[in-house]
Amino acid sequence: MRLFSVLTATVLLVTRASAQSPVTIESLTEDLARLESVREIKNVQRTFAQLAHYGRFQLMASFFADNGSLRWGAGTGANILDDSDAAAITGPAAIETWLRTDAGKMDGLQPGSLNTWINEQPVITLSADGKSAKGRWHCLRFMGDGKGSSRIEGGIFENQYALVGERWKISLMRYYPLYAGSYRDGWKNVGGKGLPVIPYHYTPDEAGIPILNQKPSAAPEGKSLSPEELVYRISQLNEEDEVRNLVHSMGYYVDRRMWDDVIDLFTPNGTISVDSNTSPPGASGLQSVLNRMGPAGLTRGILNDHPIYQTTVELAPDGLSAIARGLEIGMIGDHANRSAQWQFCTFRHTLVRDPDTSIWKIQNLNYSRLLVAEYAAGWASGGILPARASPPTPPAFLLGFLNYSSSVPRRPESWSPLLREGVHPTSELLPDLARRLLRSSSFDETENLSSAYGFYIDDVRCSLFGDLHAQKGFKASPGIGWYRSPSRITTACAARYGPNTASLNPAPRGSIPFHWRIQLVVLTSHDGRSSTLRGRNLQTGTGLNSTSGFSGLAGFNGGIYHDQMVLEEHEGKTRRKIWSLTIDEFYWNSASWGTGWANVDRASSLSPLIKRRSAMEKRQASGSLENFPPDVSIKDPLFGTRYQGFMGGPPPSVSWPNILPMYWEYRNPVSGRVPSGGTYWGPGCVPCRVKPDWFLTNNGYEEPATGPTLISVNATIAKGDGEIGDVVVVTAKLSAGPEETIWGYVELRKGNRSANLMGEVLLDNEGFASFTVPKGDLKAGQVSQLVVYYAGNDRVKPGRGAVDVLV
Ligand SMILES: *[C@@H]1O[C@H](CO)[C@@H](O)[C@H](O)[C@H]1NC(C)=O
Ligand SMILES: *[C@@H]1O[C@H](CO)[C@@H](O)[C@H](O)[C@H]1NC(C)=O
Ligand SMILES: *[C@@H]1O[C@H](CO)[C@@H](O)[C@H](O)[C@H]1NC(C)=O
Ligand SMILES: *[C@@H]1O[C@H](CO)[C@@H](O)[C@H](O)[C@H]1NC(C)=O
Ligand SMILES: *[C@@H]1O[C@H](CO)[C@@H](O)[C@H](O)[C@H]1NC(C)=O
Ligand SMILES: *[C@@H]1O[C@H](CO)[C@@H](O)[C@H](O)[C@H]1NC(C)=O
Ligand SMILES: *[C@@H]1O[C@H](CO)[C@@H](O)[C@H](O)[C@H]1NC(C)=O
Ligand SMILES: *[C@@H]1O[C@H](CO)[C@@H](O)[C@H](O)[C@H]1NC(C)=O
Ligand SMILES: *[C@@H]1O[C@H](CO)[C@@H](O)[C@H](O)[C@H]1NC(C)=O
Repeated sequence: MRLFSVLTATVLLVTRASAQSPVTIESLTEDLARLESVREIKNVQRTFAQLAHYGRFQLMASFFADNGSLRWGAGTGANILDDSDAAAITGPAAIETWLRTDAGKMDGLQPGSLNTWINEQPVITLSADGKSAKGRWHCLRFMGDGKGSSRIEGGIFENQYALVGERWKISLMRYYPLYAGSYRDGWKNVGGKGLPVIPYHYTPDEAGIPILNQKPSAAPEGKSLSPEELVYRISQLNEEDEVRNLVHSMGYYVDRRMWDDVIDLFTPNGTISVDSNTSPPGASGLQSVLNRMGPAGLTRGILNDHPIYQTTVELAPDGLSAIARGLEIGMIGDHANRSAQWQFCTFRHTLVRDPDTSIWKIQNLNYSRLLVAEYAAGWASGGILPARASPPTPPAFLLGFLNYSSSVPRRPESWSPLLREGVHPTSELLPDLARRLLRSSSFDETENLSSAYGFYIDDVRCSLFGDLHAQKGFKASPGIGWYRSPSRITTACAARYGPNTASLNPAPRGSIPFHWRIQLVVLTSHDGRSSTLRGRNLQTGTGLNSTSGFSGLAGFNGGIYHDQMVLEEHEGKTRRKIWSLTIDEFYWNSASWGTGWANVDRASSLSPLIKRRSAMEKRQASGSLENFPPDVSIKDPLFGTRYQGFMGGPPPSVSWPNILPMYWEYRNPVSGRVPSGGTYWGPGCVPCRVKPDWFLTNNGYEEPATGPTLISVNATIAKGDGEIGDVVVVTAKLSAGPEETIWGYVELRKGNRSANLMGEVLLDNEGFASFTVPKGDLKAGQVSQLVVYYAGNDRVKPGRGAVDVLV
């Protein structure tokens, strides 16, 4: 059987690459527990932040272990790193009191108050025994009391977590404050001094340690899971990845007002709800809601960004539906009339999986507005919406987090076989489960590395982020081009940003540019060894003064990362590493905190306006790369118009409020639609079209699929030869994205995958296959569903197409 020989080849590759020892039920059980732990820790921290929005202090405190503590650096002492002046509170009861007191009237409960708490960009480190963990996060709070007072606080968490019984708890929440201020004046460095590097709990090498296969480790205490339970739980993780990607992709389409792509993501009766007003089901209802944001496409001066933060996902036990919950902050503006808005929304979206194709779609986008404010007036006085006299009711929290003290089982006991790609002979099940688990851990390892990079670049630690790259990995230096290898990346960075950046323990810095790498869409290869990442770069910063010059960094810039990551074997170690790092920036920026992204006029009521600030990276650069040419220049003619308008690219340059093109590494995840206007740049790394030997596929890695494999199927009744009589001719056409090759066999079955096999056919070069079925094989007078299955290959996803036939 050709079909299974394809699968076997893949399985062997995985076994060789990722496991020294054979995959067993025990090793899978242990690895699964590790990955589920990493996810639960993220869910704990993200839900903690979600609870703050609604002043649920008791529940927030219930996430702490009984002897867990909170240390909240006050930043008034000699040194932010010095614990001695940090508030130190132990135990859930005292922590609840502290949280409540700290929020005061800015608790999200008082009429007009706002308590937005963001925790993002996690680097999670699980201990070897799987019982404790550390996590670094960005933390940012936008708060207001509705009566004119506001607070902004930003900094870094270096937290610790412990497995207590069945659940992960916070054992230490350690906050290092870096900047603070108010809506009126913006923010600046706490203490008005230079800021140290907050110690990292990881090294570049450690940041890439795979989650799985941590041998030797403690012997498993519990019993091993059954194969069925493993299938169930691993499938749920795989599906969770798809859901998260879909929600985050939707956000990017909304930002660019790509309404056709947004609508493609919905079921035929999909809806959008805002504050419980729900659109009529279907495309026209969706279109009318989307049109309220404006017509399709962005024109000069329009900002429609909706960054998505701290998404948590809960799968239904049957794996056919899911809820995604999180925070979306609309940053809306029209530069032409100098108007802008903040829109703080909780979302709680419902998604469903099409059981036929296994493709996830949106059933309902559901937004509950926390607060909407004009940029000029801000959120301190309650904004313009919603007018609310009583405290808001939070949309339900996920994953049993509303009662975190109770010992809820971490996963349902029941199971159902949810293998996306059909059934395999038992002997192939365990290696295939290992591959599926690796695909999900690739998601978290990619986020880990992405976040680790984000923190290092904030602190401009050249050698540290150089070392996050693979030996043959490459990184773009904005406006210049790509440098390949950790040492060349490090040298380029130091040449550009100056010698202080090479020191592991640099002097305090007057200003820090923050790179929030959030809203990740991670496309994982079939074997789980490589991934393609799209991420938002929401750049902000802090400085000594909030209101002047470069140090007046309390504004925002927007960019997009297009990266790839690989599992590299080097000097006997296996590590997840950055293969390719590319940033397209800046799509927009705030001239200052005062004026925001739409040049809002706040001069009458606020502090003096700040001088217009050009690209932050450029300003910060103190050196020059003239004597250190890149391996690939963004001026390379082979890029064509790819970098036209971007800093360093071919003229004319395009800067906000003009609109730069936005590029895509994937097709629409539901419809397979290819982004128009030459903005599709996939598959493969951005500089790969200039350097084909940089393609993953030329380096022993698989290129992740860029979207669904679509199968359209036709059936016609034709005259067979005399002996057979009439036949049903079934024709299938398979398609994926440009430059994605479909090859292999397709099967025709009557009904589902375990039902009758009616034929197996090799695809032709155009992706067509045709089957001839004797009419007598189908029940006369009855509709038969004929299904064409494709197992996928190392470049494209599996697919399924069906046709109903009445003979
Ligand atoms: C907290 O309690 C756990 C279990 O009782 C114990 O293992 C741990 O050492 C304690 N932590 C601290 C900081 O006391
Ligand atoms: C949408 O349509 C599907 C299929 O017809 C149906 O099962 C489902 O109940 C509908 N959902 C809503 C919210 O109308
Ligand atoms: C500015 O233009 C937008 C449309 O882009 C409109 O919605 C908004 O009301 C206008 N604001 C002002 C203050 O005129
Ligand atoms: C949207 O969310 C609100 C608030 O949680 C809820 O009351 C409403 O039922 C949801 N709407 C849909 C269509 O799910
Ligand atoms: C939480 O769970 C515990 C233990 O199951 C139970 O005693 C308690 O009443 C629950 N609390 C809430 C608010 O549901
Ligand atoms: C993240 O990096 C740490 C080292 O800092 C490593 O131990 C851990 O396994 C990685 N976690 C994930 C989720 O990749
Ligand atoms: C910060 O502001 C003070 C006045 O408030 C000014 O003297 C100082 O030069 C400013 N520093 C910077 C770095 O702009
Ligand atoms: C199905 O039939 C229609 C009409 O004859 C034709 O346009 C289309 O190309 C066919 N599709 C396939 C997959 O054969
Ligand atoms: C597959 O089809 C067979 C035969 O029609 C049926 O008995 C079986 O329940 C189906 N299985 C699933 C998972 O739908």
